[in-house]
Amino acid sequence: MLELGLTGRRALVAGAGQGIGRACALALAEAGARVACLDVDPERAGEVAVELRGAGAEAVALSGDARRRDDVESAVARAAEEFGGLDLCIDIIGEARWGRVLELTDDDWDASFDLVLRHLFLLAQAVGRRMVEQGTGGAIVSIASVSGLSSAPLHAAYGAAKAGLIALTRTLAVELASSGIRVNAVAPGAVLTPRVAERQTEERRAESARSIPMARYAEPEEIAKAVVFLASELASYVTGQTLVVDGGATAQFPLSLRA
Ligand SMILES: NC(=O)c1ccc[n+]([C@@H]2O[C@H](COP(=O)([O-])OP(=O)(O)OC[C@H]3O[C@@H](n4cnc5c(N)ncnc54)[C@H](O)[C@@H]3O)[C@@H](O)[C@H]2O)c1
Repeated sequence: MLELGLTGRRALVAGAGQGIGRACALALAEAGARVACLDVDPERAGEVAVELRGAGAEAVALSGDARRRDDVESAVARAAEEFGGLDLCIDIIGEARWGRVLELTDDDWDASFDLVLRHLFLLAQAVGRRMVEQGTGGAIVSIASVSGLSSAPLHAAYGAAKAGLIALTRTLAVELASSGIRVNAVAPGAVLTPRVAERQTEERRAESARSIPMARYAEPEEIAKAVVFLASELASYVTGQTLVVDGGATAQFPLSLRA
């Protein structure tokens, strides 16, 4: 029988407070993992931890800014103390600063790399060192974006930082493989998270969806399923990969021929 092998696994989800992060925390808990929910917004982290415990899971809320080394190191230490170690780290954090290359400011550029990439470096160091010391392997999964693989106007800083995240994923995978630690990323296309729902009108979303072969946005839970797969024993020989979950958006090019 196929087993996820996630029962009792000790997970840290960074950015667990809403959207894809919340969906990942819920899905991991449903699969039997114990989950530390880290978010810069303590209220959100607390609400998700309460939701997980209400569903019968073991969960703890942690607050901290994953762009700050001290916050990351203390969150990793607290999660490991709570559960007696760590086996999984899911890094969801990322936020876009859209802008045309000719108009982006230095601050937009630097902030994008902080918002999208720095936390994976910090988390992978803190979690990776602990996993290597534990000697029982583990898995790290982060959320990239199709913007790191393909592009569109306004995506310069966000896309370059997400491409960096994909490159860092590969290097981590290669360097940590001998310790039994797998490192992968999921690259979503458009996902209907609360943040997207707040910023895009329904009309705008319907227009965007028309360019996606599956003609709709993903639900956060559909991204979480890919994350659970990569975190699980089903992906025991998968490392250094970026799994695209985009309803076919990057599979097509814009020319169409009439039959
Ligand atoms: N929504 C989409 O369409 C889409 C598409 C492709 C990729 N992504 C990626 O998916 C990820 C999640 O997107 P989302 O829309 O669910 O995000 P979101 O903004 O709704 O949620 C992110 C969570 O992370 C927390 N957070 C933000 N910065 C943090 C920090 N520095 N430290 C700790 N916590 C922090 C927020 O408080 C929030 O609870 C991002 O990496 C994003 O780039 C999203």
